[in-house]
Amino acid sequence: MDLSNRQLYNASVATWRRQEPILLSDFTARPRVIEVLGDVSGLHLWDLGCGEGLVGRQLASCNPARIDGFDLSEEMVHAAREQAAALASDQGGPLYYSVADLTDPAQLPSGACDAAVAVFLFNYLDIQATEQVLRWVRQALRPGGSFIFTVPHPSLAFLRPAEAPFYIEPGNHTYLGSTDHLLEGRIWRRDGISNAIRSRHKTLEDYNRVLRRTGWTRMPLIEELGVTEDHLNLDPFFFAPLRGTPLHLLFQVQA
Ligand SMILES: C[S@@+](CC[C@H](N)C(=O)[O-])C[C@H]1O[C@@H](n2cnc3c(N)ncnc32)[C@H](O)[C@@H]1O
Repeated sequence: MDLSNRQLYNASVATWRRQEPILLSDFTARPRVIEVLGDVSGLHLWDLGCGEGLVGRQLASCNPARIDGFDLSEEMVHAAREQAAALASDQGGPLYYSVADLTDPAQLPSGACDAAVAVFLFNYLDIQATEQVLRWVRQALRPGGSFIFTVPHPSLAFLRPAEAPFYIEPGNHTYLGSTDHLLEGRIWRRDGISNAIRSRHKTLEDYNRVLRRTGWTRMPLIEELGVTEDHLNLDPFFFAPLRGTPLHLLFQVQA
């Protein structure tokens, strides 16, 4: 079945919805995004491709002025709103969620922000849409503000077999020369449930080129994230198959 990204995420909201870290990348990627973002107190943040809002809820306890989340999937936005409403009011600043297809220039929100995150959004966007979003964030971000985004490591598909707890299938594609091709994968939660994910393949060089084209001229921070000793101590059965494998790329760029 050929599902659009909107259909895919509307259909899988139940297994994305979570009260606490449970998905592999809740351990191997999201905590590092929050760490690199640093002190957000008093800041207006954007969460692009926010899904059901876990990252925003985690940031809400750090006293931001406001967090605006945007996502293509109405079901994900509904889940994010419901869970934000259930947060005790003393847990942080207000969370606002809107449905928006960030590949459509007419749906890119207006206004400015102090910092922005896009946690596994760009792996759903082709180069052209990635360029459009990067240019838009560059214009919206206040001087000195950070934009932090993560994607599955583009090498992962070519390094791992199709096995738990995380894989992306390369099909007939190769690392070089397959830009914008859609690769399908799965990522697991610690309770054995897995979610389908997608990666619109882009090499590290593709990201570097598109950042330069869109005016992010300061040297980016680029990190290759994987499992750490802490992960292995926490749950060796779950994390050990990924020991030594690059799982995600994290970029921090600054206006
Ligand atoms: C892997 S999920 C990550 C969700 C969230 N950032 C998190 O960390 O849990 C990817 C999200 O990107 C959203 N997405 C995909 N394409 C999009 C688009 N064109 N515009 C806005 N959101 C999009 C999906 O609906 C989905 O919620």
